[in-house]
Amino acid sequence: MKDFIIIGNKAVNGGKISLNDLPGSAGRMDVLCRCVTSALFISFGMRRDINVWLILKGEPGPSKIVRFNGETMRSLNPDERSSGSLIQKALLIDASDAEKQSTPGVFVRYGNLEQLLQNFSENGRPLFYLKEDGKDVLEMTQTPETAALLENGVYILGDNQGVFEEDEKTIEDANASKISVGPISLLSSQCVTLILNALDRAQANE
Ligand SMILES: C[S@@+](CC[C@H](N)C(=O)[O-])C[C@H]1O[C@@H](n2cnc3c(N)ncnc32)[C@H](O)[C@@H]1O
Repeated sequence: MKDFIIIGNKAVNGGKISLNDLPGSAGRMDVLCRCVTSALFISFGMRRDINVWLILKGEPGPSKIVRFNGETMRSLNPDERSSGSLIQKALLIDASDAEKQSTPGVFVRYGNLEQLLQNFSENGRPLFYLKEDGKDVLEMTQTPETAALLENGVYILGDNQGVFEEDEKTIEDANASKISVGPISLLSSQCVTLILNALDRAQANE
């Protein structure tokens, strides 16, 4: 099982979002939608062992978490409007602190990064913070012990604005290991693709 957490610093968390303006009034929701596509889609299929957790930290209300679950996902296409429309539907239901399913494979609840990381830590999941100056993921896949951790990893990424100081402190406090997909700052969705590609290659070489 692998989980990707994407922090949407300005992503709206209530009301009806405009599918025609995902990058603007929806608070760079396009970045999050591309991460969903990169994490779940392969050619002619879907990765079923992946969850994508989108933390919507923008306006108008308290932060919400929308989860895309590869195992039970239906009615999702690779384009941004498709994932955007499922996020839109998730934001229209009455959220609570308990997760509710809005459409098949999509879940929503109130919550923040700290709670999410705490849940994963309690379940013994290894946490990885994607950062340019972290340890090279390709090197890590060469050692069986670290490769096994990566295969069961929870990966945390920022959006176009990166990760703000208070979230970075939360990530550090949760003892996440910093890992890198290269020296250059890439798009969040490109990082997701590179992580999965490194894991695919490691599995193929086993
Ligand atoms: C577009 S980048 C953010 C750039 C932002 N200007 C900053 O300084 O953080 C989005 C996210 O992708 C991840 N990221 C980008 N390049 C990376 C790299 N080479 N290795 C690991 N993670 C990377 C980080 O988690 C980052 O928060």
